[in-house]
Amino acid sequence: MKEATLSRRNLLKLGALGLAGGLAGCSRAEAPVRPLPEVLESEEGALALTLPLAETRVELAGRPARLFAYGGRVPGPRLELRPRDTLRLRLENRLSEPTNLHFHGLHVSPTGNSDNVFLEIPPGEAFDYEVKIPEDHPAGTFWYHPHRHGLVARQVFAGAAGLLVVRGALDAVPEVAAAREAFLVLKDFALAGERVPAPSPMERAAGREGPILTANGRVRERLVIKRGGLLRLRLLNASTSRIFRLRLDDHPFFLIATDGGGLAEPVELDELVLAPGERAEVLIQGSREPGRYLLRSLPYDRGGPRGMGMGMRGFFRPQGTAVLAELVYRDEARPALPLPDRLLSLLPLPEPVRLRRFLLGHAMRPGRGMVFVINGKTFNPARVDVAARLGEVEEWELVNLGVMDHPFHLHTNPFQVVSRNGRREPFLAWRDVVNLRPNERVRFRVRYRDFTGRAVFHCHILDHEDLGMMGVIEHREGERA
Ligand code: C2O
Ligand code: CU
Ligand code: CU
Repeated sequence: MKEATLSRRNLLKLGALGLAGGLAGCSRAEAPVRPLPEVLESEEGALALTLPLAETRVELAGRPARLFAYGGRVPGPRLELRPRDTLRLRLENRLSEPTNLHFHGLHVSPTGNSDNVFLEIPPGEAFDYEVKIPEDHPAGTFWYHPHRHGLVARQVFAGAAGLLVVRGALDAVPEVAAAREAFLVLKDFALAGERVPAPSPMERAAGREGPILTANGRVRERLVIKRGGLLRLRLLNASTSRIFRLRLDDHPFFLIATDGGGLAEPVELDELVLAPGERAEVLIQGSREPGRYLLRSLPYDRGGPRGMGMGMRGFFRPQGTAVLAELVYRDEARPALPLPDRLLSLLPLPEPVRLRRFLLGHAMRPGRGMVFVINGKTFNPARVDVAARLGEVEEWELVNLGVMDHPFHLHTNPFQVVSRNGRREPFLAWRDVVNLRPNERVRFRVRYRDFTGRAVFHCHILDHEDLGMMGVIEHREGERA
């Protein structure tokens, strides 16, 4: 397979492909978006849809807001796929700025018109994405969002994000299948009147946050559980920068899946911390007295510009407790549903062939202000930072030299965290985001499989990514035996 190069010619060619039969005669100012259904499922191996991204007047947290909505919705429609499916998605850019699409967490080709974040879809144009889900793709909770470097934080903060679910083995575990399923897209917003305000330079450096906390675009989302029943909650933190620390009154979480799919067995947790981009699936047992129980967002201190010499002490304080959702009991499951003992079989990745180190930090650059760097460098799409060989297992050591948390994200291949500050991880899990507190050191293992071509790794505080904290990984064909 030939690697995709990012010459201007290639981009133009791809752009032209996408435009064939595109938006002729339809200017983006008119043509209001009719909302797409809340869920779109593949049929007979394919899901085909046109997905407009437009500034749209929607209801957010019970009030009107002008947001960047996919298919007229915030969050965007949930796309449901299965291994072997093909997703054919025409993205219509009805914004007045460029955008593109990323399929976060999918193990698919990062080139051509698949999960290619180097593409740019100009305003008023459309592009035909085609994403082939491999037959051995794990089941899990994934998502889509824009990835145009420099505009990612702005577009995601204005609402552009949606779930993408791959159904498979985890869904077939009998106890999981018997549970009631609910999704929670957690996201914070800021509004000035009906509009999303622009951040100050300091808010940008910190990573913009907003005071309106939503789940599925609503304040106090309602969740229902049967007495004696199980609720399978599938959570995504789609915030630009906010880290959620979650707790549900009187009910522990039984973690059954992380970013990359199911665990070997449930892990009981009192609290669940979700960094931007991260997903988790938990089972909740309806084992309490019927009543109302609150899912709370607890304060979390992710550091801030006060440690960066930007003045204004205390500007960036951890916020108070807020309610994200309420759980109510309705009906009774008879007999009561048990928790699963076992879920999936997971194998630890073998010894790596090499170790790479990545130092995460920030710096002041003349004329640019605060930038965020990996190994001292800001993002350069023309530079390859990591040349990876298909088939190889590597260990990456990440060190946070900064004063804020940095949730590190790798595209295309999931990883297994092996240690944090020298201590072994308590359980085996596939992830694509791992959060690092200041001074933390994390090691993960990754195996490069199936796909050649260029992709990226970056901080998922999207302002940090836009301010430079991203690198390029190029996957090359392995040596032939
Ligand atoms: Cu969710 Cu490269 O991102
Ligand atoms: Cu991603
Ligand atoms: Cu960061």
